[in-house]
Amino acid sequence: MARIVSKECCSIAAMKPSAPHDRIPVLIDCDPGIDDALALMVAAKYTAIAGITTVAGNVPIEHTTNNALSLCELLDLRVPVHQGAAGPLGGDHVTAEHVHGDTGLGNLHLSQPTTQIRTDDAVTFLNQHFLRNPGTRLIALGPLTNVALLLRQHPQVAEYIGGITFMGGSAFGSGNVTASAEFNIFADPEAADIVFKSTVPLEMVGLNLTHQVLMGERHGALLDKTNPISSAAITLLQSYQHLIASGSGVFDVPMHDPSAVLAVSHRELFGFKSRHVMVELQGDLTRGQTVVDERRTTREANMDVAYDVDIDSAITAIQSALS
Ligand code: RIB
Ligand code: CA
Repeated sequence: MARIVSKECCSIAAMKPSAPHDRIPVLIDCDPGIDDALALMVAAKYTAIAGITTVAGNVPIEHTTNNALSLCELLDLRVPVHQGAAGPLGGDHVTAEHVHGDTGLGNLHLSQPTTQIRTDDAVTFLNQHFLRNPGTRLIALGPLTNVALLLRQHPQVAEYIGGITFMGGSAFGSGNVTASAEFNIFADPEAADIVFKSTVPLEMVGLNLTHQVLMGERHGALLDKTNPISSAAITLLQSYQHLIASGSGVFDVPMHDPSAVLAVSHRELFGFKSRHVMVELQGDLTRGQTVVDERRTTREANMDVAYDVDIDSAITAIQSALS
């Protein structure tokens, strides 16, 4: 088993077979989205999902919400789904149909959901849930619009939030939607700025981490095609690979959102470092870039940034959840 030790806090001890994991109670804010769908499968297996909120991101809000409802039925997740923001706090509304397909789940066509959203007011649900269940962790897998609205409309809730683990940004300032910006942050940089400047304990799982956890069709081939969840996962992996494939061929693709869920359920597989992270709001070339201060300054860190992961164990955990 790999041994990963980061030189600063939150190092990973020598890998030993991971003990059974307690199912941590979580809320999930997401924009399904192919990798969000895979992440919900991982969360369904390893966490105790108390509620799901949807946000516009990969595809418009009506699709992310419809997909969340359909995925809950596929996974037999009996949790409330609350619809959230239909667009960013500021700036242009960007989507990613070229990566996730027109309705957000690639070639996976789930039956129309029979369940309805609990409310179309994600912010009120989040606020009430945190006040009633202090210490709950939120896993944010899309643009941070709902989270920013929650903190702006209910500032006192920050002390009730156990922590936010978000998939977004990059420790090295690289991007996937532009050369310098990752999609979730680029889609709503003003929202990210509000969250980064809050007092909530934050964990960033950025592209520098998720591009270490690569999977594709070959991993799907090991799944049981007769199982409806595995069959859906196979289709999602195939779609993801082929939608991202470039002229240079088809290759394994980064498990962005599943990695963020594992950072909560399997924290022992990850190495974090405390850092001060800011987001660029202006630059023509750099709007949405996460700027991670690596200087050994006295500047107070505002989050833990994931740098290291036990790749084999992470992929094994994801595969186990998809089967
Ligand atoms: O940059 C990857 C992130 O943007 C993932 O959360 C993906 O689902 C998209 O939302
Ligand atoms: Ca997402």
